[in-house]
Amino acid sequence: MPATIIIGTQWGDEGKGKVTDWLANDMDMIVRYQGGHNAGHTVIAEGHELKLHLLPSGILRPHITSVIASGLVIDPKALIAELDQIKEIGISDPNLIISSNAHLIMPYHRLLDQAAEFKLGKSKIGTTGLGIGPCYTDKASRVGLRVQDLLDMKIFREKLEVALDFKNQVLTKIYGMEPVEIDAVMDEYSVYADRLKGMIGDTSRVINEALDAGKNVLLEGAQGTMLDIDHGTYPFVTSSSPIAGGACIGTGISPIRVKRIIGIVKAYTTRVGSGPFPTEQENDTGEAMRSVGGEFGTTTGRPRRCGWLDGVILKYAVRLNGLTEIALTKLDVLSPFETIKIAVGYKHDGVVYEHMPNHQTVFHKCTPIYEEMEGWQADISGVTSFEKLPKQARAYVERIQEIAGVPIAMISVGPNRTQTMLR
Ligand code: GDP
Ligand code: IMO
Ligand code: MG
Repeated sequence: MPATIIIGTQWGDEGKGKVTDWLANDMDMIVRYQGGHNAGHTVIAEGHELKLHLLPSGILRPHITSVIASGLVIDPKALIAELDQIKEIGISDPNLIISSNAHLIMPYHRLLDQAAEFKLGKSKIGTTGLGIGPCYTDKASRVGLRVQDLLDMKIFREKLEVALDFKNQVLTKIYGMEPVEIDAVMDEYSVYADRLKGMIGDTSRVINEALDAGKNVLLEGAQGTMLDIDHGTYPFVTSSSPIAGGACIGTGISPIRVKRIIGIVKAYTTRVGSGPFPTEQENDTGEAMRSVGGEFGTTTGRPRRCGWLDGVILKYAVRLNGLTEIALTKLDVLSPFETIKIAVGYKHDGVVYEHMPNHQTVFHKCTPIYEEMEGWQADISGVTSFEKLPKQARAYVERIQEIAGVPIAMISVGPNRTQTMLR
């Protein structure tokens, strides 16, 4: 069977966790392909609200094989904390395989992430401070430690010595911080190695063999298109490739294996951290979206910036990811509004832009061109079919579909599994 990819089309937190969990019924394997525990995917199932950071969103389903593929950066402490969290709800022996090639977040990555942000001051990126960027930096610089190094702590120590030699100079001489002690790290990571070594495997092979055997494989993206290191709002991005192309690199499967690419579109837009956001509403409208939508970071608890849906970004996400369908989430959050706006273009210096401007200064400074639609002002959280939605809500969905040029196959009107309808 071909693989399916789930992609965030905005700046993350579109509801990827909910949609992944919803699709999990039909899947045999669910794979995370990039990012790290900067992700926060909420799954509400069997009476539990789980906030998953590294574990794929199918981990609660006994029939699913969960895979953490090579494109991730893994903080073993965070991973073990999540394994302990699911143990508490009765999943003590999850069917989980962790790529031997994934990179390890080390204590100095966290320190360097936070120190660099502090140094940037007002210009900070607003990272999660979890060491994601510095770990990917070391991967590209070829000085990273990988999951497989946990299998031989002698080699682990040799690599750590080389890394610390340089990192400690940066920590002490540039940032005036305490050095990281090698013995403390060895002690800490030896415990992690003992806990994780039975789960380490060749995930590219595992995934390809599953596909060969006709299994349904879902590749669960983290972050979103606009946080992509190449195509997002650089430098206000994460350090990996959340877009569809990143799924093949991060897993080691061929692009010809992929058939469905589902873009998750939140019915409005949110962003955590710094950077441009043309449709942001720093007013009562944004406040209302935040409070009705519960828009506070799953990982850091920070209030999310909120604004109207951006059709320019939507078209950009369709193009970059080759979306075959869309899952529209959080439509219920727009229920209180008398009118609803969608940006269909931008204006800057007398020029109209219908597509993503290729000079970011324009994107920073542009004014959105809005279409305004009638709201429905009715509770839709219990509606189970598209036909039963108020006509204004149907019109909004149809307008989004028209802008995207891709079918909206799924609509979510609440955080629970049951609050989902197919079209
Ligand atoms: P992700 O990072 O893309 O998985 O999204 P998050 O889990 O960080 O944020 C989405 C939030 O919205 C979570 O709290 C979900 O439980 C919630 N959610 C998902 N879909 C819906 C929906 O259709 N309506 C409402 N009201 N909440 C939703
Ligand atoms: P999910 O998977 C929203 C943002 C951070 C910051 C930028 C860089 O839940 O959608 P990083 O720590 O990655 O170096 O921070 O990226 N960011 C997210 N925003 N949802 C996420 O993940 C995010 N992961 C990172 O807030 O602006
Ligand atoms: Mg999230």
